[in-house]
Amino acid sequence: MTQDNSSQDNAAGQNGGGDLFNTAAGWVLFAAGLGLGLSILSGKYFHGDKPERPEKLGYVIEGAVEESGGAAAEMSMAEALNMKPAAELIAAGEKAFAKCQSCHTVDAGGANGIGPNLAGVMGGPVAAKGGFAYSAELKALGGTWDWDKMNDWLKNPKAYVAGTKMSFAGLPKVEDRAAIAMYLNAKGANLPVPTFVADAAAGAPAGDETPAGDETPAPAETPAE
Ligand code: HEC
Repeated sequence: MTQDNSSQDNAAGQNGGGDLFNTAAGWVLFAAGLGLGLSILSGKYFHGDKPERPEKLGYVIEGAVEESGGAAAEMSMAEALNMKPAAELIAAGEKAFAKCQSCHTVDAGGANGIGPNLAGVMGGPVAAKGGFAYSAELKALGGTWDWDKMNDWLKNPKAYVAGTKMSFAGLPKVEDRAAIAMYLNAKGANLPVPTFVADAAAGAPAGDETPAGDETPAPAETPAE
């Protein structure tokens, strides 16, 4: 008899354990569901003020890069203009000019847009295209567009001419400025490219006007066979 009882107790105990387990599992599920729901809700809630943050952060980083990237160890415009063969620079400048195209045409006779037509701008007087309403500030700059002036202008127009109408952040890399200036120069100007001597010790005779022109390769000595 005692055995019957104990086996019944056992059975009851097992049943009870099973119920307990189910109940616990139920609560766990419920809690998980609640947690998920909350996290979705809070995700939605906090998402509301997110769009502002990345934008501000982006600006800060951009500014910092521009400021510190420029001055440190930048090569001179003259050096950048002599880094590559002219044809390569012009091709690179033509590509980079995509950044200017929304406001400028560059071919002779092209229309003024948001900015003036830029044909022949290199070597020409500043702010002198007919039919374009320049800002008083750019007019006041005066002078002609030479390599250095163009370099300063394209690096950061608003810093170079405070109050200019040209809404363009600038080109932080001197290589890009050199390429675009070369491209502009090829469009109706043709200023001579400034010479750049990397090392004064490279003692090329100053009078030699065509240093690269006549590099006659040494006659190949045919090995006696
Ligand atoms: C958002 C429009 C805009 C973009 C983009 C832009 N510019 Fe301009 N640009 C202007 C305006 C407007 C002026 C006239 C500025 C003034 O009068 O203050 C100007 C003036 C100039 C001038 C002086 C022209 C003159 O006759 O003296 C040069 C050179 C120039 N831009 C080159 C460039 C180059 C190169 C780029 C691309 C790297 C570029 N701009 C991008 C609007 C733009």
